Order: sequence, then C-alpha cells, then structure tokens
Amino acid sequence: MSAQSTGSPSGEPFDAVDVIRTKRDRHELSDAQIDWVVDAYTRGVVADEQMSALAMAILLNGMTHRETARWTAAMIASGERLDFSGLRGANGHPRPTADKHSTGGVGDKITLPLAPLVAAFGVAVPQLSGRGLGHTGGTLDKLESIPGWRAALSNEEMLSQLGDIGAVICAAGSGLAPADKKLYALRDVTGTVEAIPLIASSIMSKKIAEGTGSLVLDVKVGSGAFMKDEAQARELAETMVALGKDAGVNTVALLTNMATPLGLTVGNAIEVEETLEVLAGGGPEDVVELTVRLAEEMLACAGVHDADPAQALKDGRAMDVWRRMIAAQGGDPDASMPRAKESEVVYAAADGVLVELDALKIGVAAWRLGAGRARKEDPVQAGAGVRLHAKPGAFVRAGEPLMTLLTDTPERFGRAREAVQDAAVIAPAGSRPAQRLVIDRIA
Ligand code: URA
Repeated sequence: MSAQSTGSPSGEPFDAVDVIRTKRDRHELSDAQIDWVVDAYTRGVVADEQMSALAMAILLNGMTHRETARWTAAMIASGERLDFSGLRGANGHPRPTADKHSTGGVGDKITLPLAPLVAAFGVAVPQLSGRGLGHTGGTLDKLESIPGWRAALSNEEMLSQLGDIGAVICAAGSGLAPADKKLYALRDVTGTVEAIPLIASSIMSKKIAEGTGSLVLDVKVGSGAFMKDEAQARELAETMVALGKDAGVNTVALLTNMATPLGLTVGNAIEVEETLEVLAGGGPEDVVELTVRLAEEMLACAGVHDADPAQALKDGRAMDVWRRMIAAQGGDPDASMPRAKESEVVYAAADGVLVELDALKIGVAAWRLGAGRARKEDPVQAGAGVRLHAKPGAFVRAGEPLMTLLTDTPERFGRAREAVQDAAVIAPAGSRPAQRLVIDRIA
C-alpha cells in the first residue's frame, strides 16, 4: 500500500520527503511516485541528498517486481531509445539483433571475440560498452589500445556500421537513460550501489533503451565479481531476466565463475592480443569455452539454431568480421600492440598444485600497475597489466614464474606486488577442486 502524498507547494505533484518516507516505512511506491521521482531527480528538482536517502531506503527495504519494472521504465523514459528495426540482412529480411552484458570481471575480454563471432552468422551485435572503474577492466579501454581506434560514434555511424559489418562496439551515448547516469554516480559515493533492484534497473534500462531484440547476461560470481555470493548473483540474474522479458527483449542469463581471472591476461593491450589468439582459432580454453557458449545463447535467442561458433573461430570467419569492425572505427588491425616499458616476474614459492589464483587480487594488481583508473577522468596505460603463466589445476615448481607484472611506471611495482603476495595458493599434493565455468542458466 502506498502512503498518501501531502502534495508539494512548488507545483510538483509529489514531495520528495513523502516519497522517501513511503519507502523508509516499507510501503510500496506507486507508479506515479516512481515516474515523478526519477523524472524530478533528472530535472534537478529532487536534490542529491534526497535521492541518496531514497536509494538507501530502497537498499534496506527492497522493491517489489512491479516497482523495479516501473523504475526501469522511468529511467528509459528519461532519454532516447534506439531503433534497429530497419536493419536488413543480405537476403533483404529484417536482421535480428543480439547483445551481451557482463556484470564485470577480471580478464573479461569476452565481448571482443564474441561480437564479431555472432555477427559472422548474420545477427547484428550493437555492443554499447563502458570504460573500467576500479579493479574490473572496461571494454573500451582495451580496444583503445589499438592504434587509431575510436570509441565515440554517432547513432548514424553506429547504424551504418551495423548494417555494413554487423558488429559495433562503441561508447554508449549520453542520450541513453540519463537518469541512470546521474543516479549511478550518486550511488557510487553513497554506499548504495549494492541494491539488487537498483543494479538490475540500471543495467536493464540501458540495454532496453539501446533497442536490442535479444540479450544474454553474463552474471559473474566470485571474488573478482560484483556479486561475491551465488544466491545474490542468482537473484540479480532472475530480476534482470524478468525485466528484459517484460520489456519484450528475449533475455537469458548465465551465472559464471569469477573466482579466478579469465584467460592468461589482465590488462588492455595484452587482452586484445589474447583476443587475436582466440580469433585465430587458439587462445586459452576458458576464454574459448565462454565465448562459444555465450555465442550459442545469443544466436539461439536471435533465432539462429544451426550455427557452429567454435568452427567460425577456427576457420577465420570471426577474424574477418573483427578486422572490418576495427578498421571501420579507425583502428589498424595489423598494428603491433603497445608494450609496457618495465616488467617484473613473481615466482612460485613452493612445489605443488596451484589450487587458487584469486581474481580480485590479480585485478587489483593490474589496476595498481596502471591498467585501470581510480577516478573516471584518469588515463590508463595501454601496456600495463598482469600476464599469468599458470592457472588453477597446474603443477608448479618453486622458483618457476607464476605471473609477470607490466607497467610503464616502475614505482607501481611495490603496491602491485603487495596485492598479489597471497593471490596464489599452492598445495603440496592433490588437485584443485573442479570448478565449473558456467554455473547455471536462467531463462
Ligand atoms: N553496472 C551498472 O551499469 N549499474 C549498476 O548499478 C551496477 C553495475
């Protein structure tokens, strides 16, 4: 039941304090209250301190599915919606669209091989991405290490590239869900990021406004993920899948393991190099497995059921699309990638089986080496990061290289070494308990 509004002397239909009290006292917000508060916050009528009180009340008291769906719709309504319905395939028929969103992980370069791989089967992939903040890397930071590549495209350029090549990875324009942009920045500094209804509506408002027909969510679980525990990750995945379906987007989520970094590289240029290995038919097993699995899900959601994405990685079809996609955005697909000026090796302390390699600690080290940023205006170093020489399950000998730290600024080595000093757990005997990369599928 919603609390009665006492109205507002300013001519606004509600008073922010009434809306805050409603949620503080564990009542449901009405559709009209939600529409108003999101819109009034975007217009600057609701102040930051009022919205942060409301966000905290939502974090503490939750929202029903109806409230979360309405909040999402209100954030979508704050900006523009893209429309890909005019896209046509080679046969002149409407071209299906599919997108993927990852909740963020360490060494998560999957978008890079995935977008051209799915496009190789005639599905258009409009991948609007972001830059990294904190220990998880950003897709745009990785691609910007390719000489000449540019992230900013107009809507017309994006549509034209999608029509010609089928895949585009670019920066989300400021017109999509501006309410979320403002609210996310506020949540970041008020301890209110971790509210599942707010995370779900934040992610889904951008994806629904982007106009994709289908969406596959990669919800990470583990030390390197936003959600450390499986029950919370599952709740987030279920909430987002329900929001997507309500909005007519064919949505599926995979819960995937982020206890250890994906692949053998964590950084920007070195993750692009690993992507090229995958697109050339090689690359680390876990990166290939997740890329292929997500491609199968995206293709099935988009109505393509007879595809063999693993084969398209081996025979160069995905690489062809990658080269065209990079060149279309000014990048040189043949350029050699920037290298860090300095390196330092971390060695195994004992003989035994590497049973754990903690994703969060490696992510923090890569960030401290200069691969990530502390404030959103900070630059990143293209060549910085961590190159792993062994993954959990491998037998290592004392004195063997475990990882190489890379940076242009050697004064960063000390803090990075501190971050990784107990990242690796080596057991004298036995083997690493089997951990599935894909934990579950939620549809
Ligand atoms: N990513 C988003 O886009 N929004 C959130 O709230 C959390 C992660």
